[in-house]
Amino acid sequence: MYSDERGHTITTDSEHCAMALSKTIEAYAQRQADTSIHLQAALEADSHCVLAQATLGIMLHGARTVAFTQQANDALSAAKKNLDSVSAREQEYVSALAHLLSGQLEKAVQCFEAILDQHPTDLLALVFLQSELFWLGDMVWSERVSAKLVKHWGKDTPNYSAFLAIRAFDLEENLDFSEAERVSCDALTLNPGDVWGAHAFAHVMLMQNRIDEGIRWMSERESLWNSASQMQYHLAWHQCLFLAERHEHEQMLSIYDTRIRNREHPLCAAMPDLYIDLQNASSLLWRLERVGVNVGDRWKELAEVCTPRIDDMTNPFTSAHFALVLAANEQFDDCEKLVNAMEAFSKNSQHDLSMRYQNAALPAAKAVIAHKKGQHKEVVNLLKPAQSQLWQMGGSHAQQDVYFQVLAHSTAQLGDTVGYETLMNTIEQIGFVEPARRVGYAL
Ligand SMILES: [Fe+2]
Repeated sequence: MYSDERGHTITTDSEHCAMALSKTIEAYAQRQADTSIHLQAALEADSHCVLAQATLGIMLHGARTVAFTQQANDALSAAKKNLDSVSAREQEYVSALAHLLSGQLEKAVQCFEAILDQHPTDLLALVFLQSELFWLGDMVWSERVSAKLVKHWGKDTPNYSAFLAIRAFDLEENLDFSEAERVSCDALTLNPGDVWGAHAFAHVMLMQNRIDEGIRWMSERESLWNSASQMQYHLAWHQCLFLAERHEHEQMLSIYDTRIRNREHPLCAAMPDLYIDLQNASSLLWRLERVGVNVGDRWKELAEVCTPRIDDMTNPFTSAHFALVLAANEQFDDCEKLVNAMEAFSKNSQHDLSMRYQNAALPAAKAVIAHKKGQHKEVVNLLKPAQSQLWQMGGSHAQQDVYFQVLAHSTAQLGDTVGYETLMNTIEQIGFVEPARRVGYAL
């Protein structure tokens, strides 16, 4: 009988498989680039390992691309073959995967929560749960779960820093900034290189307008993130959000080219259309252009990888960013195809995401297309009624902010000062301190 670092069963006859899967879990929780190498080693040692196959399927789903659908379904089939021989907990992972692949994302989250109710230190279930809820826009649920777990974790629990980092991000997205800062700093004291802990603290500083501190803090630590997954690109994106407030546009473009959208970097070269990378890149270019910076032909490169994915409805926030890219690159026929695909999905699919496309991603996508065309009245007509629903696209407050900046810009262009003031109040209620001081909202 083998187990992970916190004593949870891994059913396999192969010690190599168990050890490699255990490493997979720790690496994944630490957002490390070698996660897939460990998982591959586990599957090579024992391709019949149910938990390894379920983990593979859930991670493939987590890449949020239709390109991996077949592979994820193959992993589910493989996991189901030996279901009777594994623990109830491992069976629950397989149920979660089945729900994810049938579009019942909330049911999958219920599976992860059921695992955590019985096994509160099951870190893998917790990482999967937070990730899924983040992209469902339901960080209230995520916080509720991690709050239940606090009493079960402590300094003696292996990889405690990973739990603290998850907890800190839940707190931050639920606007408990002081507690989020305390918990993320505890995580970083235990493990200075904790990528997710650093990420939670970066969010706190951004929401609180702590710009100079954010620039200094992140530049002092960026070398600690070199072994991270694509989260290192996302942290570089966060650095740029701070730099934007100081009008450091040349440095932003340099970071964009070297650390956010560097096609030569091994992670980007391996998967140039990873959803979060496309979100980072497009929202940053939009912010730069919005303040008059010439971004050269950078949109073209993004458009080349987004255009083939117009019909990919695996993540509403990504589809809304595709609209940013296609509109910026003036591919208006493709913009229409994208909107048509999103409308068809939202009307015809029983997928948990269909309503989220309908309520949030569609108005956001249509609005950024209208914005590019200078149709500011149309932007306001689309986004003003949808603004309270944009959370349904998933993503953080900091990420969703770009659509509020679109609305603010169009509102200002129409000379609607009352509407602008009302919007600033709304953005303050979302959690941003003094939004009117930020460059994205400067009149
Ligand atoms: Fe972030």
